[in-house]
Amino acid sequence: MESADTDRVFQSYGRCCKNELFFVDFYDRFMGSSPEIRAMFIDTDMKQQRHLLRNGIMQLILHARGMPGSKLRALGESHSRGGYNIRPDMYGTWLDALMDTVRKHDPEYSDTLASAWRRALQPGIELIRGAY
Ligand code: HEM
Repeated sequence: MESADTDRVFQSYGRCCKNELFFVDFYDRFMGSSPEIRAMFIDTDMKQQRHLLRNGIMQLILHARGMPGSKLRALGESHSRGGYNIRPDMYGTWLDALMDTVRKHDPEYSDTLASAWRRALQPGIELIRGAY
């Protein structure tokens, strides 16, 4: 992936993170997408979870920029069938919820920016999902 593209994604993420409601909105959407997904966060401290996800998305972007995936491998482990048991088909829902939230929060959102986001995040998501 071109580094100009990952730069644009990195900057877009910076604009999103300026508003802490970004992560509130994300989890509202993601959990609203199915009762099964909502149920997985029933005992979760969401304030802490939002904080952890902020870092997790940063790890996905850094991976697109060439950082080795060791932190992502740990997420692969925790999300695998021996951990939270996150089925591989749930990651599409996750990414769609994220992109809806970026569209709402980034004033510079465009369709080309959205496809740069999806391309940037895909290898890191595959790493986590592939550990299932
Ligand atoms: C690539 C996309 C994803 C990223 C970057 C991500 C990131 C994270 C991070 C950083 C944590 C906390 C660290 C840990 O417990 O290992 C976490 C926990 C968790 N994630 Fe994900 N996640 C992703 C996809 C999903 C999906 C699709 C689900 C499906 C529902 C999910 C469900 C959970 C659950 C249930 C927890 C534990 C919550 C708790 O501690 O109660 N994640 N995730």
